[in-house]
Amino acid sequence: MTDKKPRILSGIQPSGIITLGNYIGAIRNWVELQDEFECFYMLADLHTITVRQTPADLRKRSLELMALLLACGVDTEKSLIFFQSHVPEHTQLSWVLNCYTQMGELSRMTQFKDKAAKNANNINAGLFTYPVLMAADILLYQADLVPVGKDQTQHLEICCDIAQRFNHALSDTFTIPKGYIPKVGEKIRSLQNPTAKMSKSDANENAYISLLDDPDTVIRKFKRAVTDSEAEIAFREGKDGINNLLTIYSVITGKTIAESEQEFAGKGYGDFKLAVGEAVVSYLKPIQDKFNDYMNNRDYLQQIYTKGAEAASYVAQKTLRKVYKKVGFIPKG
Ligand code: TRP
Repeated sequence: MTDKKPRILSGIQPSGIITLGNYIGAIRNWVELQDEFECFYMLADLHTITVRQTPADLRKRSLELMALLLACGVDTEKSLIFFQSHVPEHTQLSWVLNCYTQMGELSRMTQFKDKAAKNANNINAGLFTYPVLMAADILLYQADLVPVGKDQTQHLEICCDIAQRFNHALSDTFTIPKGYIPKVGEKIRSLQNPTAKMSKSDANENAYISLLDDPDTVIRKFKRAVTDSEAEIAFREGKDGINNLLTIYSVITGKTIAESEQEFAGKGYGDFKLAVGEAVVSYLKPIQDKFNDYMNNRDYLQQIYTKGAEAASYVAQKTLRKVYKKVGFIPKG
């Protein structure tokens, strides 16, 4: 009997502000999964340059995201956390997998079509082969499970197709990963347009809460949150704004929706919005404090991501060696 924990790989791009929506929908899960699974957490900086970036901004955001994930509770005693660009095996395997991927199947990727439409002046080859790099990320570590949102399920499917094709052609090499639907992961909506997702790229800053927003900003944004013209704090169809605020409140406080409804029964929307804002402020406080500690201690941060990359490389090399051998490259000796 082996009690080896199933292995999880997940990636996040350092491509912008991290919102309360990202936290509740994804990052919180990264923290929760650490006991049950062997987790590899990767900051997908190679993926980020498929869309033009200002180098100084990318550098700043990458470091901040690393600090933020640690501040949120990614624990280096339990999990590996690293920058994708620090582990060269990702690009190396990606090349081989490119040769086992068809143009036709990449052309069908809806995210490529969307991003190509949005970046019409820069439809680069990296944007096209993005799913192949993502497949390499996953297959290098022989991951059993990949937590993915809806926008990435097609990429996970093509990853499985590529892995199966390779295994079939050159004998079993890769674990075929499965999607993992986390137990928690509520969708958080825009505070300004609660039928849409809370998005960091929203032109209206009042639509999202950044994990790094200061207390006054958080309160002000919640006070301005769009609700409805009734006066009842209840979770029900058609009350998207109130539902969203109740969801945030219940996740942040650990209370159920029913308990939260009861707590605010008979109260006005103004009081409710303020209470949600205050709960979020006190929830974010320790995260922001830890974030600042990491950012003020760059050497320590560097130690963490250097160790992470070394440990990840060790696992990745094993897979890459196998792959190189199977395709017929001469071993280095
Ligand atoms: N493409 C993912 C996103 O934008 C990030 C990512 C890169 C990823 N490599 C991955 C996610 C591997 C899961 C597994 O959200």
